[in-house]
Amino acid sequence: MDIGYTAAQLRTAAVDAVRAPSLHNTQPWRLRLRDGGIEVLADPTRRLPVTDPSGWGLRIACGAALFNLRIALAVAGSPAQVRLRPDRAEPDLLARLVPDLPRRPTPAEQSLYAAIPRRFSNRLPFWPDPVPADARWRLGEAARAEQCWLELLIGVSAVSAFGEIARSAHRVLERDPAYRAEREGWLRRESTPDGVPGSAGGPQGEPQDVLPTRGYGGRDRAPGRDFEPEPLVGVLGSMGNTAVDQVIAGQALQRLLLTATDVGLSVSMLSQPIEVPTAREQLRVSLGRFGTPQMALRIGYGQPGRPTPRRSVDEVLDLPVVSA
Ligand SMILES: Cc1cc2nc3c(=O)[nH]c(=O)nc-3n(C[C@H](O)[C@H](O)[C@H](O)COP(=O)(O)O)c2cc1C
Repeated sequence: MDIGYTAAQLRTAAVDAVRAPSLHNTQPWRLRLRDGGIEVLADPTRRLPVTDPSGWGLRIACGAALFNLRIALAVAGSPAQVRLRPDRAEPDLLARLVPDLPRRPTPAEQSLYAAIPRRFSNRLPFWPDPVPADARWRLGEAARAEQCWLELLIGVSAVSAFGEIARSAHRVLERDPAYRAEREGWLRRESTPDGVPGSAGGPQGEPQDVLPTRGYGGRDRAPGRDFEPEPLVGVLGSMGNTAVDQVIAGQALQRLLLTATDVGLSVSMLSQPIEVPTAREQLRVSLGRFGTPQMALRIGYGQPGRPTPRRSVDEVLDLPVVSA
């Protein structure tokens, strides 16, 4: 009996894995088939040296890709058992998936799976409609299901306190010409398989904005106007901050994003307050939560948009050579 995954199963699931989000759409992952196990590896050549010196963003992205893989395999009837960082001698090896007992997918897995190709970062202003309590609850459940927490900021003062931390982190980052150059290097004027296309960039930031925008070169907007009335801001956190915790947080992020898509919500991420250590600490203290903030999110009802491009799966797959 064949007890491992096949190259065909990996290839099919990889199409979903690569739909995961990543900093500047760098897609810093590799997928490998070894002894019937599917392995998720960080691709260090795609880490952003200035923006992501520690590799936090790389591991969040790989965790998100791992979550898509898990869901794709489960929906195909061959769910996985996952071991994170199975071999300490190979630090880039972040997860190994081996087949668990075959079973039918649950309705929840099917809904998350259907959301994979529909999810995208929506940087346009959201409608004023509030996010209802049941949707908020489902987002929190998504984080908890992956051993993380989600703090939704309630009230104008909590959001503006967050905004202050985020804007000051943004200013710190923007002061560094190497950081700006790195971001510019991943901006795309025309369609390419990686990087952030101008069409996805969202409007330019304005000084009165509560939340900073990343500066992905989106279109100008009327000066002096508010970006949106009152965004719902969430902070996703993990219990610790080891490499394994960050892979866990990446999975929680993706479950959260797919859950949001499934309930008709749009999300954009803002990680400036996570990337600047003092801001991250301020954020942690202001939330009064045990653990480490791993991502901040803007959540609401958005205008339609389009998923961004990805590299072909052939570029990320490492399959055993089959002799003729
Ligand atoms: C670790 C991480 C940090 C990110 N930080 C930001 C951010 O600060 N601002 C932003 O607009 N998008 C951010 N993103 C979203 C990426 O830019 C986005 O996932 C990527 O461009 C691919 O687009 P998609 O999400 O539409 O598939 C981040 C994503 C990840 C995984």
